[in-house]
Amino acid sequence: MKISWESPSNIALIKYWGKKDIQLPSNPSISFTLSECKTTTEVHFSKGRGVNITLDGLDKPEFIPKIESYLERIIHRHPWLSSYNLQIKTSNSFPHSSGIASSASGMSALSLCIVDFAQKLNFKFDALNFYQEASILSRLGSGSASRSIYGGIAVWGNSPSLKGSNDEYAIKYPGLINPIFEDYHDVVLLVDVGEKSVTSTIGHALMNNHPFGKQRFSQAHKHLNEIQEILKTGDIENFIRLTELEALTLHGLMMSSSPNYILMKPNTLKIIEEIREFRSESELPLSFTLDAGANVHVLFPGSAKKKAMEFINSNLIQYCKENRFILDQVGSGPKRLTNFVK
Ligand code: DP6
Repeated sequence: MKISWESPSNIALIKYWGKKDIQLPSNPSISFTLSECKTTTEVHFSKGRGVNITLDGLDKPEFIPKIESYLERIIHRHPWLSSYNLQIKTSNSFPHSSGIASSASGMSALSLCIVDFAQKLNFKFDALNFYQEASILSRLGSGSASRSIYGGIAVWGNSPSLKGSNDEYAIKYPGLINPIFEDYHDVVLLVDVGEKSVTSTIGHALMNNHPFGKQRFSQAHKHLNEIQEILKTGDIENFIRLTELEALTLHGLMMSSSPNYILMKPNTLKIIEEIREFRSESELPLSFTLDAGANVHVLFPGSAKKKAMEFINSNLIQYCKENRFILDQVGSGPKRLTNFVK
């Protein structure tokens, strides 16, 4: 039986950086689910045991250890997996060498296929519903993947200020959202498309003995309280202040860990400077965020799209590798593609 899902990437506004136990976050995080950056995965389940995986039709034996350790982590929840063979065919909408993390979209797409098949087997899973179970499995594959299960805005990690929030799975953001944030755009400027010098796994681990770890985790809680008011009222000025602070804090944490490291490139800083200059001159609500890499995500509401794109084309793409960027926006979440093809 073959099952196929498409699942998007997401961009965190309040960052997950640091984890404990088995993939539990050190602080709550919140993100926009994207629309264009996505992974499509088809899994062929057959009786037996083992895994193989192709990316864009090419065998990828180097991905097998990662998938196997993910399967080991989830098998206590899905013991039926031990008598199945998984043939995984996957492809990303964004180029493999774009420096865009495929773990959020990839792990969520695979988890959705597995939970879908479990349901088909009439397997009773522990979580309350399909999406909660898919978010738990996604989290066990990659923390940020837990948030890709929901369209719009998603929150992962327990916050006393948000009812229903949980370390084990993400939830769709339950608060009021001003319409301005339902049509938010994210232009991903591809500054550096190579392998990252330090992986997120190592970065998270460095938060364990980080001199500012405790302060950071309580800051993230405070930011999650603040962003709820911002999302409700559509307070763009504070949205920009808070999300840029989060982005630079993430990189500040990397620069102040032992060992320390820098993932931003000179062009990352040039873009940030240009955005800030343009914002103060034009008064357009254009801002940036960063993930754990050199690429810059330029954020703006749909109403600013025309002017923002003019500015990006005239001033920013010169800093991108081969002038490359991806135009994305807040999206509606994963989609089941085929329904139980035998
Ligand atoms: C900077 O989810 O990639 O993008 O759980 O080890 O797979 P693992 O880490 P990952 O870390 C993402 C970190 C981030 C911030 C975020 O998405 O919240």
